[in-house]
Amino acid sequence: MKMRFLGRTCLIVLSLLPAVSTQRGRWTVIGSDQPVIAEAGDDVILPCHISPRVSAVDMKVRWFRERFDKPVHLYLNQRDQLSIQDSDYRGRTALSPSALQRGDLSLRLRNLRPSDRGVYICYAHDGNQYEEGQAEVIVAALGTQPSISMDSTQGEQTRLVCRSEGWSPEPEVIWRDRDGNNVTSLSNTTVQRDSQGLRSVSSYIKIKQQSNVFSCLVRSKTPKPDWESKLHISSESHMFVD
Ligand SMILES: *[C@@H]1O[C@H](CO)[C@@H](O)[C@H](O)[C@H]1NC(C)=O
Ligand SMILES: *[C@@H]1O[C@H](CO)[C@@H](O)[C@H](O)[C@H]1NC(C)=O
Repeated sequence: MKMRFLGRTCLIVLSLLPAVSTQRGRWTVIGSDQPVIAEAGDDVILPCHISPRVSAVDMKVRWFRERFDKPVHLYLNQRDQLSIQDSDYRGRTALSPSALQRGDLSLRLRNLRPSDRGVYICYAHDGNQYEEGQAEVIVAALGTQPSISMDSTQGEQTRLVCRSEGWSPEPEVIWRDRDGNNVTSLSNTTVQRDSQGLRSVSSYIKIKQQSNVFSCLVRSKTPKPDWESKLHISSESHMFVD
């Protein structure tokens, strides 16, 4: 009787095992759909977590960019494994052990560099299942002081051009006349991206030839509210038209 009972129990366990071990989607990894925007030199947190909040202490956690085999940060066997870390990130990354217990895989990245901009993948593997999420880093850069010059004159019409370069992310351009009226809707702005991902703007505005002062303000587009005071970077230029 006892033997037979044990035999049946065993059978049930065996038939359950494959179902359990191949079941996928028991947890997922969630990155951030909002980019992390900060200036060079800042310390940032790249958000990423496991959902539902199971502990990641015993998982393999890897943060990487283009190359899986050259991680930004690797955690394995309950410790950081930084011998194969991308040397650009040496000494600048950390995972929080207490956060890992809560399934929080967020990466702290210190002393942000312009070359840190881009998409980061956070990857977790528990032996059965692996999942990944993404977080994007934008390294904000204040561009050059804008300059206004006369672009062309055709009859009564003069066209001014305001230029500024070296921005990240893409800035906005605001034109005002002498009275401070926003005349941006009369302008035409083009943005170009250089090889380092920085943006140059050229904004054209047609004006009637008359005495007036025009100012061109180039500034970062409304960032996330908590960054506002820090990232409200702008440059302004004026031109007197006679
Ligand atoms: C100025 O006008 C432009 C275009 O009409 C608008 O998009 C922008 O928000 C305005 N900016 C300010 C500061 O009023
Ligand atoms: C803006 O520039 C483009 C390309 O040069 C041109 O096709 C368009 O008509 C311009 N718009 C205005 C309002 O000047």
